[in-house]
Formats: sequence, C-alpha cells, structure tokens
Amino acid sequence: MTKIFAHRGSKGTHPENTLASFKEAVHVGSDGIELDVHLTKDGQLVVIHDETVDRTTNGTGEIRNLTLAKIKDLDAGSWYNATFAGEKIPTLEEVLLLLKELGFNGQLNIELKTDIIQYEGLVEKCLALQGTQTCPFAIVYSSFNPYTLVELKKIKPSQEIGLLFESKEWANKGDAILKKESYHPDLKLLDWTLDWNKNQLPLRVWTVNEDKDINRCFELQIEAIFTDYPEKALQLKENYER
Ligand code: G3P
Ligand code: CA
Repeated sequence: MTKIFAHRGSKGTHPENTLASFKEAVHVGSDGIELDVHLTKDGQLVVIHDETVDRTTNGTGEIRNLTLAKIKDLDAGSWYNATFAGEKIPTLEEVLLLLKELGFNGQLNIELKTDIIQYEGLVEKCLALQGTQTCPFAIVYSSFNPYTLVELKKIKPSQEIGLLFESKEWANKGDAILKKESYHPDLKLLDWTLDWNKNQLPLRVWTVNEDKDINRCFELQIEAIFTDYPEKALQLKENYER
C-alpha cells in the first residue's frame, strides 16, 4: 500500500522543516519523512527548504553566508504561528537524533538542495554524518540535481537514491547519467511518468495534498506520496483499505 511521507515534516499543520514538524509527522504515524538540507558558511548541515532564511524565519540572508551560530539565533516558528515561537532551524544531526529518540522506523528522505547552489562538501558531510549514527530508519537521498546524485553514488554505490524531477527534460537527463532505485516526480507529471517509467521503478510522487489525488495514487498503487498533510492522508489510507 502507498506509503505516506510527511513533506518537510507535517508542513500543512506545523512550521516546515522544524523539530516540531518532524515530531508531529512521527506522532501521526507517517511512513516516511522528507526534509531539505543546505550548508552554512561554517560548513554545517542545516534543515531548511529555501536558499535564504527570509521566508521561514525572522532573519534575512543566504544560508551559505550565515554561520550556524547566527542561524541558531533565528526564530523559525513565529512566521507560521505565534504558538511555535522559539522553534529553530535544526541541524541534520538534531533531526536524526530526534527521530531516533522517537523510535521512528520508517524511511527518511534527505533532499540535497543543490539545484540552485552547488554546496561543496554537502554530499560527503551527509554521508559522514550518517556513518556516525545507527538509525532504526532507512535513508534515501534525492536531488533535483542529478550530478549531485552521481557524486553520491560514486562515494557510496549501495546508498538508495531517488531522482527528483519537475520537467520531462530533467527526468531524461537524470535518467541517462544515473543508476537510481526510484523516481520522485512532480504530481503534474504523474501520467507522463507512468508511461515513461519502462523499468517500473517505484514512484514517490510530490506534493499530493488533495483528497482526490491522494486516492488516485492509492488506486494506481504508487509506492509513496509526499504530502503536507500526513494525518489526513493516513486517514484516507485507512478508509481506502477498509
Ligand atoms: O521531495 C519532494 C519535494 O520536496 C520536492 O520539492 O520544492 O518541496 O523541495 P520541494
Ligand atoms: Ca524537498
């Protein structure tokens, strides 16, 4: 049955990519959790979607120009709702530790955000961190930049990856240069991908929020969906299974 991945945690109900959002994702029973990783000025792995802190904190500036200490001064919850005041941008290590502490044993999708900025050392640092942890959950990496995934596979051929795409052009480009275990297509390309996916690799589709789209993915027996509303999607899954 289709797995439900909480997109940036439970993004629809909590401030995205924060510990509060990941806690909620585990609390509601998500099968998987997705997050985004960037590198700070001082080379630390932080979990945030955009290249800047502007949209999701009370600060401004590019992640690559801010130290972790500066980033930790920012409030990453108030922009969403005052009840989340004091939430911080987490490091990737903090998220791994939280998920371990909560006993999460599903799949964690780490998206390497290198489609706009090529962070030198991002791949190595993620794999090195992963190597220091024994996690009860599986890790799958994805990126819109297939060259990043090629780099990752060179370092660790056994690591599971998924090719993210939002255009046919990049799906074909990535497909040509990469040995991957799954495709992560934009929902708008689902029908095209079903036809294009000749090797029948598992599909993890994003971002699936509408009831009708969620139910259609169940109907099509899609491997997984990324959704901002994991609690609702899990409820729909329970109804569908009945
Ligand atoms: O991995 C699926 C989805 O997260 C990709 O898009 O922009 O939300 O990172 P975005
Ligand atoms: Ca993402």
